[in-house]
Amino acid sequence: MSRNVSEKAETPRRVLVGVSAGIAAYKTPELVRRLRERGCEVRVAMTRGAKEFITPLTLQAVSGHRVHETLLDVEAEAGMGHIELARWADDIVVAPATADLLARLAAGMADDLLTTAVLASRARLWLAPAMNHVMWDHPAVRQNIATLEQRGARTLGPGSGSQACGEEGYGRMLAPGEIADAVTAGSEALAGKRFVVTAGPTYEALDPVRFIGNRSSGRMGFAVAEALAEAGAEVTLIAGPVHLSARGGIERIDVRTAAEMRDAVMAQLPADAFVSVAAVADYRPASRSDEKIKRSGESMQLELVPNPDILREVAGLSPRPFVVGFAAETSDVGENARAKLEAKSLDLIAANRVGDDCGFDAGENALVVYSSDREWDLGSASKTALAEKLVSVIAEQMENA
Ligand code: CTP
Repeated sequence: MSRNVSEKAETPRRVLVGVSAGIAAYKTPELVRRLRERGCEVRVAMTRGAKEFITPLTLQAVSGHRVHETLLDVEAEAGMGHIELARWADDIVVAPATADLLARLAAGMADDLLTTAVLASRARLWLAPAMNHVMWDHPAVRQNIATLEQRGARTLGPGSGSQACGEEGYGRMLAPGEIADAVTAGSEALAGKRFVVTAGPTYEALDPVRFIGNRSSGRMGFAVAEALAEAGAEVTLIAGPVHLSARGGIERIDVRTAAEMRDAVMAQLPADAFVSVAAVADYRPASRSDEKIKRSGESMQLELVPNPDILREVAGLSPRPFVVGFAAETSDVGENARAKLEAKSLDLIAANRVGDDCGFDAGENALVVYSSDREWDLGSASKTALAEKLVSVIAEQMENA
């Protein structure tokens, strides 16, 4: 079992403002001021084209820091290099985000300082598009936005109205105050509450090289942990074997087997709430061979024994935390989820359909949440967006509990 406490996101909030080459860049200095007025520490990165619209000197004056412009400037990199900048930021706000910048971000390019910083960062990414309304409606732009949102980026606007090009329509960058409000809004609905969250699969060893596992990527559990932290909760994330890293402010404990996960969960209680997102293996091999099992040519029987049901155990404690389960079903989703809610005495269960093409190991998901007397259809969206909606339901129900 390994443990890692990532650094708690410090106040003041650290915002990297990215400026790309659009006429709306004239509003960016005001955005920097609005963010600073709201207590943020702000640094600015510009694309080369952006400098045709607004000078680095202006942005340096309003941000109080030297503006980051080039990736390969030895002197600038000796100050705060692009990787340091990417790690420093809690939020990256690209305003204006031009069609070209959106395309480069969607393609995962890293051909200048701003795109490289975005790729190298785990910060929340906010995009404030600004472009001609026909460009905004173009399928290429829509697809790039959809790709970025699906990866967790949040789009702010654009608004509609008269444009710099003299036409009318959607494509205007939102007002600096509106962007600053959205970025700094952060709900504190769960401040002071301690959450334990499980995520990912468990691996049950057969021998030193083989295991029984499942296709869970852990992304839903990580998204839930992050959304809880964003709502002000103190979060401990107990993760099975996954290839993911969590954002700052989340305590993470890595485990491999269901038994290790159970012990880690129990060691973290009492807590205000337990959210069991992990796809825990229901069974493990009755015995684990110390040597690699050799092929014998014969057919082979594998004896499996049940694993502890962590969720049921936690829900059976007295006093107990507020308990949220997940149900991954291949059919009769609602019926099976309600049955599990009742059988395991849960406060809430979030149900999704899994199959060859959805749910596990996918960026998108669809969730319906059930309590004993209500249901919330959260629709189909990115795991990040669904996690935020689920956290709102949890916060509301905990308040009423
Ligand atoms: N769960 C758990 N410990 C287990 C198995 C499951 O804590 N050993 C939790 C999961 O994290 C999830 C919920 O139980 O929140 C539902 O898991 P699922 O495997 O869908 O349900 P089961 O009760 O195992 O029923 P079945 O596999 O028969 O559908």
